[in-house]
Amino acid sequence: MCGIVGYIGNQQAAPILLDGLSKLEYRGYDSAGIAVYNGEEIITAKSKGRLKVLSELTHGGDAMPGTLGIGHTRWATHGEPSDVNAHPHMNKNESIVVVHNGIIENYLKLKKKLERKGYEFISETDTEVIAHLLDYYYKGNPLEAVTKIMHRMEGSYALGIIFKEHPDQLYAVRKDSPLIVGHTDGGNILASDVPAVLKYTRDVYFIENEEIVRMTDAKMEFFTVDEEPLEKESVRIEWDVNAAEKGGYDHFMLKEMYEQPKAIIDTFSPRLKNDGIEIEELNMSDEEIKAIRKLVIVACGSAYHTGVTSKYIFEGLARVSVEVDLASEFRYRDPIFEEGTLVVVISQSGETADTLAALRESQKRGARVLGIVNVVGSSIAREADNVMYTWAGPEIAVATTKAYSSQLIALYLLAMKFAHVRGKIDKKELMQMVSDLKKLPDQVELLLNNKNKIQKFANRYLAAKDVFFIGRGIDYAISLEGSLKLKEISYIHSEAYAAGELKHGTISLIEEGTLVAAVLTQEDLYKKMISNMVEVRTRGAFVLAVTNEGNAEVEKAADYTVYIPNTNKYFANTLAIIPLQLFSYYVSIGRGCDVDKPRNLAKSVTVE
Ligand code: M6R
Repeated sequence: MCGIVGYIGNQQAAPILLDGLSKLEYRGYDSAGIAVYNGEEIITAKSKGRLKVLSELTHGGDAMPGTLGIGHTRWATHGEPSDVNAHPHMNKNESIVVVHNGIIENYLKLKKKLERKGYEFISETDTEVIAHLLDYYYKGNPLEAVTKIMHRMEGSYALGIIFKEHPDQLYAVRKDSPLIVGHTDGGNILASDVPAVLKYTRDVYFIENEEIVRMTDAKMEFFTVDEEPLEKESVRIEWDVNAAEKGGYDHFMLKEMYEQPKAIIDTFSPRLKNDGIEIEELNMSDEEIKAIRKLVIVACGSAYHTGVTSKYIFEGLARVSVEVDLASEFRYRDPIFEEGTLVVVISQSGETADTLAALRESQKRGARVLGIVNVVGSSIAREADNVMYTWAGPEIAVATTKAYSSQLIALYLLAMKFAHVRGKIDKKELMQMVSDLKKLPDQVELLLNNKNKIQKFANRYLAAKDVFFIGRGIDYAISLEGSLKLKEISYIHSEAYAAGELKHGTISLIEEGTLVAAVLTQEDLYKKMISNMVEVRTRGAFVLAVTNEGNAEVEKAADYTVYIPNTNKYFANTLAIIPLQLFSYYVSIGRGCDVDKPRNLAKSVTVE
């Protein structure tokens, strides 16, 4: 939530800040602002709305000359989206300016104290407290002032700070909100995330909790909160720069849907070796895998849905007991970790606050944590005991597609590996599954190429009020994701139901014409699902079925059927989700919604 950037060097700062913010807009987009030191004073420009408003206001940055600056794109937490609440925030005499990603939890207490000392506040934000607190502690030494405020603030923050009296320096600091810095040609840059700096550098430093960075145009120094100097190693980012651009597609979401075959291949290829599956990052011997008695899978949103899918696979295929929980719930219960429990946290961004908190809580209780993460070097990747990367590349659209698909692949690989090591499937069965796995990219492509048919169907439902997604077993997990995709980007109310649960209350919501999407990929459940489809259809529902090729029987109970190619029953999610992603996408654009940046949302949820 929120993205920050900062630049100091021999180039004009404002265009670099705006460019960096454009790559971070996925983190928040209700207002934006930049501050630049122009040689005499610090000038700010802020505006409610998308970054393009700020860009127009500053003539693409040309109206704000200067080679030192900071910028911010906001997802409002304290105070409505408005010009005054937009960052950067300054002290009264405009000599200190700050941008902030995170939440200062004790800001009210700090604000009251500062008000008693005569400080006046003009915004409703928690961030303004930081500017005044810096003012209070600043006695000529910026580093000292920064460390002092760190001792006073509770909560999470990544900050970019400029002191007018030190125009040759840019400060950055982090606690529980992501921050990276890197050298550019003739300067230094800071940002919340890698895409913002890729154009300028591929070697970045990941800033750890309570570390401070002091940058000049030529130098970068790192300090602890006790002002002790630190040595840090940079990490080379191998992402393709173009991966974070739209590349001719109308929207990032469409582009990322089309990147799914590649994301799938990139995720399974490095792990298919020597006639089997090798997951070196697991760092677990066969004996250790055999000793696992329970998996606890924790994640949020779509990542949670991949966890729900994998529960059926780990239990059915590998006979390992699985508990799946929402990270936001997990951290507030008192989980029981018996001997042999492995915790698996799943996250695209690797920065989701609740998932990170669940990881830390699990480690505190002595559990080993495996992270399935997409963003290299993110907090979860660094803190997990072992990391299995999903190689989906940068995902920009708020609605996840390719990261979701690659998470599924990582989980399939793990489940297959566990099943084989634990003697639940033999080599022949494993190799058959590997062969089915390798067919998935082409099968996904085939489904994507069917997009025109789905678009036509979607156009009939642009005015829908409610949509229901139903399924059993893995198909229920697919329904959860299909439903989330639709509501997230089209703002149509939708719900996912385990099909057998419908008649325990929800069926009363079915009216003449209500769209019910029924997912039937599990052959042993066809008959039960068909009964559920008939139940809703008799009550007026229009039934869309997503099922395997060859299941012609379904047409008796469906009004419209989308067939997916046949695959191993445990891999069905990868194929069945494609028409549902396309459906959501086309409903969203048909309704004129902002597909890539849906209202009220942000890509990376770094607050609780
Ligand atoms: O970065 P993460 O995978 O931890 O994010 C988890 C959820 O916030 C995310 O999957 C969210 O539900 C997506 N916007 C859904 O498309």
